This record gives sequence, C-alpha cells and structure tokens, in this order.
Amino acid sequence: MKLAPSILSADFMNLEHDVKMVEQAGADYLHVDIMDGQFVPNITFGPGMVAALRPITKLTLDCHLMIVEPERYVADFAKAGADILTVHVESTPHIYRVIQQIKAANIQAGVVLNPGTPLEAIKNVLPMVDQVLVMTVNPGFGGQSFLPDMLTKVKRLDQLRQTNENYHFNIEVDGGVNEQTATACAQAGANVFVAGSYTFAGEPARQLATLRHLVTK
Ligand code: DX5
Ligand code: ZN
Repeated sequence: MKLAPSILSADFMNLEHDVKMVEQAGADYLHVDIMDGQFVPNITFGPGMVAALRPITKLTLDCHLMIVEPERYVADFAKAGADILTVHVESTPHIYRVIQQIKAANIQAGVVLNPGTPLEAIKNVLPMVDQVLVMTVNPGFGGQSFLPDMLTKVKRLDQLRQTNENYHFNIEVDGGVNEQTATACAQAGANVFVAGSYTFAGEPARQLATLRHLVTK
C-alpha cells in the first residue's frame, strides 16, 4: 500500500517545508499534478517544478500529466527527474507510442482513465504499464467528491491483474480519497492512494497515519 500526497493542496509559498513534512510523515510517493488549461480547465506547473522538487526529496515523484500532446514533454519530465509518468488515454491518439517513449526514458509508465472512459480503452497497453490510475473525480481540481461508481472499474482491473500473469501494474486512485472512501478503494483492489486535500486538511503525519491504517486493515 502506497500513500501519495498531492502537492496540489500544499502551501505553494512553503512547498519545501510541506514536501519534507509529508516525507517525514511516511509518504511513499509525492503526487505532482501537471495541468495545462487545455486537457483540464486548470493550470498548475510543468517540468520546472519537478526539477525543483528533485533535489529536496527522496520520495518517488509520481507525475500525473493532465496535458494535451503528452508525447511532446516526456523527455523534459524525464530530464527533470520524474520517477513515474502517468498519461491520460484521452489526451493522445498514440497512447502506445507515449508509453514506449516513457519506458525508453527509463522511467515507470502509467496510464489514466477519466471517470467517463471505460477500461476497454487501455486493454492493449495493460501488459506495458507499471501503474493504472483510475480517476475517482473529474480531473482538474482538488477537493472534489469521490465518485463511488469508479469502484467497479477498480475491481474489474484488479480481477484482470489477478488473472493475467503478464500484468504487473499498481492500481492508483485519485480524487476524493479520505477517511470515508479509502477503505472501499483498498477493498476494491487499489494499492496506491493519492490524497491532496485530506493530507493537508490537518496535521499530515496524523492524516497519513489514519489513511494507512484504513487501507491496510
Ligand atoms: C485532480 C488531481 C488530484 C487532486 C486530488 O485532478 O488529479 O491529484 O490533487 O485532490 P483531492 O485529494 O483533494 O481530491
Ligand atoms: Zn492527480
């Protein structure tokens, strides 16, 4: 079980402090939400942020690309020090090629599904990926409500993983993960939990400890 606090809900003026705080609190990944104002309505940051984070933390940098034409930026994020690059299947007609590009850059490759996208859309790339991210909100903003219907997708994905020995991906959930929703995600088969607003809504050490307890029971 891996916990991935999202820096989207951190204090941008004190980001180094917040990153070190979640690292000390036992986070596994740092989830970095890259938004371009095109694929999603919001704009955040780019490879420069990843490069700035790299020297200040040992946490796995789990970069969630919510951008159009992700193939144009793989090299930049690799150079910046990303450990995982996760790309929306809806963001490119060439998901297979982008995943090949990410793997050729020697970083872990992930694929993401929006709430409205069925699992079938990623079937052909499942043997290639290290991570499948199931969006449990519409991407773009932190602090939205969890969509319980997405649990069916997580369960089906977990079944596929168990019945295909050539699948080796982690299942990540992102959006609205908190004390009320985390257990159901874990029971459905998720093993990587992104939490933005929940992590920073209180003392991160306590929040993450509570979350870990809920997902490992
Ligand atoms: C939404 C982002 C999420 C966001 C989650 O587009 O992908 O990673 O930070 O925020 P919470 O945990 O507040 O729903
Ligand atoms: Zn995200």
